Amino acid sequence: MSQFEIRAKDGLARLGRFETNHGTVTTPLLMPVVHPGKSEVTPSQLVSEFKFQMVITNAYIIKSTDRFRDAALDKGVHSLLNFSGPIMTDSGTFQMYTHGLPEGEIDPMDIVSFQRQIGSDVGTILDTFSDPYATWARVEQDVQVSTERARISIPVKGDMLLAGTVQGGIYPDLRIRAADEMAPLNIDVHPIGGLVPLMEQYRYADIVRATLAAKSHLPPQRPVHLFGCGHPMFFAQAVLMGCDLFDSASYAKFAESGRLLFPTGTVHLSDLRELPCECPACNSTTIDDLQRLDKAAQSLILTKHNLYVSAAEIRRVRQAIADGNLLELAALRARSHPALYEALDIFLEQIGNIESSAPSANAKSVFYTGPETARHPLLRTFQYRILERYPFRRTRMLVMVPDMGAKPFSETNQAIENEVKMRDPAEMLLFYVTPIGVVPWELEHVYPAQQTIFPASVDSECLTAAGESLTRLLSTMEFDDCMWVSRETPTNVLSAATGLSDRATKVSGVSELSQILPAASHPQLWQKRVIAGVCAFQWDVRDMDSFGLNELGITLSSSTGKIRHITRNGKVLFTLVPTNGLLTPTYDGGRLLLKSGLKDDYKVVVDDDAAPFVADGKSVMTKFVKWAGPHLMAGEEVLVVDSKGEFLGSGKAVLNGREMMAFRRGVAVIMRHSKKQPPVDYKEDDQESF
Ligand code: GUN
Ligand code: ZN
Repeated sequence: MSQFEIRAKDGLARLGRFETNHGTVTTPLLMPVVHPGKSEVTPSQLVSEFKFQMVITNAYIIKSTDRFRDAALDKGVHSLLNFSGPIMTDSGTFQMYTHGLPEGEIDPMDIVSFQRQIGSDVGTILDTFSDPYATWARVEQDVQVSTERARISIPVKGDMLLAGTVQGGIYPDLRIRAADEMAPLNIDVHPIGGLVPLMEQYRYADIVRATLAAKSHLPPQRPVHLFGCGHPMFFAQAVLMGCDLFDSASYAKFAESGRLLFPTGTVHLSDLRELPCECPACNSTTIDDLQRLDKAAQSLILTKHNLYVSAAEIRRVRQAIADGNLLELAALRARSHPALYEALDIFLEQIGNIESSAPSANAKSVFYTGPETARHPLLRTFQYRILERYPFRRTRMLVMVPDMGAKPFSETNQAIENEVKMRDPAEMLLFYVTPIGVVPWELEHVYPAQQTIFPASVDSECLTAAGESLTRLLSTMEFDDCMWVSRETPTNVLSAATGLSDRATKVSGVSELSQILPAASHPQLWQKRVIAGVCAFQWDVRDMDSFGLNELGITLSSSTGKIRHITRNGKVLFTLVPTNGLLTPTYDGGRLLLKSGLKDDYKVVVDDDAAPFVADGKSVMTKFVKWAGPHLMAGEEVLVVDSKGEFLGSGKAVLNGREMMAFRRGVAVIMRHSKKQPPVDYKEDDQESF
């Protein structure tokens, strides 16, 4: 049974909790490598001074040194290291590779038994480390050996958690095969192995290809460990790919050779004139004193510096997941070295095929970091949904207004919006052309349209992507006339990119436009347009008639004039959340959605045992999820039903559909409105619209 649970997500990255026999730790987690008897900083110090939670040590080294082996077998590895927290052990795979030890030096079953005997919390199989220059055929053999060793290790693991390393070298197809073969086995943690030489050669792009290939085929409920990745420069990007565990021997190795680790790279002490660091170790000395110290004393200070800096970067990464801006942190780190930038580029290229979070997941700002922002998964999901789901595709007059996208959109365009609001979509549509692509007027408040902040000097990559989004959407539209309201903004140049040059009439401003526009013939309630747009965007609801929109009431906020609730008979059915422009259904609203044929993608089916609790408003725990849509993204508004389809309530998905099915621990859906809770009344001060 998995010991892992997810608390929060940001794309593939996850904040989790991992339970071991010696305590529960928070992930992403960095385990310093400790050497029995040799480490300058003890495990207890690593916890008390540097705030690490777990350490990793080497079972092969313990087993092959008489006094360590005897002590460990006698009193356990926790006593040997004088540490009561969680300990992971490695098997000697890496020593076999680096020291060229003969085949047979370590017995694969013995070394796993030994790890269990000494009381390791997480033991590791004796996998086969493939050289990065090995041929495909050779690596294929290594993968087979590793899988076989995982298989024979399972019967001897006892109550120790077992790490089954995914090898496969630089060949994504072999990484996938290794992951597929490991997936059905009773394994608790999956390290990605064979990466150390790639790390040393800054071949981060190869690491990204290998890791994403493995990740996409590993069971989501098992934590993934990036073996031998101890440089803080790469933590943000590794976590961005969904890695949960790290180990670091680098902190000591780099210190020994006079090098300081930073999240922005490595610096040799002899190259420094200043100590550019605020950690306690650096603060305790000066650059002159440090450079004059003897080697051992110097190495101890650098070791401590490296530990402080590595621990802080992992904390920063965890905070970024909670804030939903890990991609921005990784983009910042990618500026430290071209190899990291290249790796981020590969990541963004491949992530399109994997997963992103729902646009509703987190309503924080998306900040432009550079050309890569054009491929931000949140922005791509937004554009993709507009292309697939925008409900109005035919109109007499299409008006396009270049805009920078950030708020306040509508205030600068009040005059033109007033014209749109008077008309039926079949008569007139308004598209804002922004650096994130097309934002139809109906969706201007939907996250992240107004939360994406670009500088006035948009780069050409972002402009090209925005132009492509416009061209794609226009190719699905039918319209008689098209107006382009020329404006002094960077996206104005996109009028040329649309292939519309011949068809679009350019007007110089809103006043000119209103002279050309046909008179408003069907004064139409704009709220319905917005709701139809948002329902389509959010749940792929196209047929608004089945939804009974015409019979529903709408209330506006008395302070902002924006839509606040959709109501029926004085009861609130939906609330439009001002921070993300999306709808949350109440119990009554959820029932209406269900009755109008909401897609299964947005339903979660729970065990009948759990149904009464969910109906009472308790969170849906993953172990009670019987079925969830495979395309459901984390952060979406979902409906929860029992096995007979009986509606229990509406809530927010914490996990994606695949994860809901795979995990046995943790929360799948936080309920907002449940069957047995009282219906929601709307506030007195809101104005009833109709
Ligand atoms: N340490 C660094 N890389 C590896 C690896 O590929 N396998 C194991 N077992 N340990 C490692
Ligand atoms: Zn420092």
